[in-house]
Amino acid sequence: MGIQRIESVTYTVDDLDTNVRFFTDFGLTPISQSQDRAVFQTRIRQTLILDAAARPDLPPPVENGPTLREIVWGVDTPAELDRLAEKAGAAGEGVRRTVDRTGFGVGLTLVGETGPEHEPPRISNKSGYVVRVNRALESVGPVRPIRMCHVALNIPKEGREEAVAFYTDLLEFIPTDVVKPMGTFMRVEGDADQHNFLLCHRPDRAGVNHVSYEVNGFDDVIEGGNHMIERGWQEARKLGRHTVGSNVFRFVHAPCGGRVELAADMDRIDDSYGTRVHETTPPHHIWTLRTNRDRGE
Ligand SMILES: [Fe+2]
Repeated sequence: MGIQRIESVTYTVDDLDTNVRFFTDFGLTPISQSQDRAVFQTRIRQTLILDAAARPDLPPPVENGPTLREIVWGVDTPAELDRLAEKAGAAGEGVRRTVDRTGFGVGLTLVGETGPEHEPPRISNKSGYVVRVNRALESVGPVRPIRMCHVALNIPKEGREEAVAFYTDLLEFIPTDVVKPMGTFMRVEGDADQHNFLLCHRPDRAGVNHVSYEVNGFDDVIEGGNHMIERGWQEARKLGRHTVGSNVFRFVHAPCGGRVELAADMDRIDDSYGTRVHETTPPHHIWTLRTNRDRGE
């Protein structure tokens, strides 16, 4: 096999306390905190690392200010880890490290222990398909993201083919949708999401675009976003459903750089999906929330 999932992401930040508050509000599980580092996990135990101190062991940041410095990918077996690390020129003990063509840190490690992923979805009724009887719905309660399902990075237009080839040729990512004017969506061998990774060249500069977190369903996307707004964080995009990937989304500006996405109901695909090449950019979304009410509830 090969790469199974995102294992960890590392940001360097300037205000650790603000970031801790943000990801606590976002519903990640706090694991540890010291003066200059905080660590959180998703429900399946992927790790988010926030570093307020310099990280000389990582390549220099690709943009000014707080930003994403490294993504570590989890590989299924020691033999596959050795093989992929050699191909990509990644070295070191524990996490094998290298740098991609844009300057982002890339790590490889054995896939970690996973957590409970399989909570049943909320069931919904429609006429002719009634599955919930004598049971009222309640708030989903505190939203706890299941997993980091994809990362989107901005890259310069120049050299974009080489930037993508690093991942497809050396790390064996599978290109799923190549949108020529915009970027390349990819997935890893061990995951069926339509994309786990996007290199987006449309902004024509390097930086973190967003990290997406899968939540339990549509209600969780809405309630999780509402909760972030109530806690004082800034929404970055209206509720909607993407065209590529079909996922329902809400985006929130993140103090660690870029945005976080609450996502649900992403397309799952298999090898028969192939690589779909788009000469023009598909619409960004199928729909976004519209209202013509300008005040109040
Ligand atoms: Fe996304």
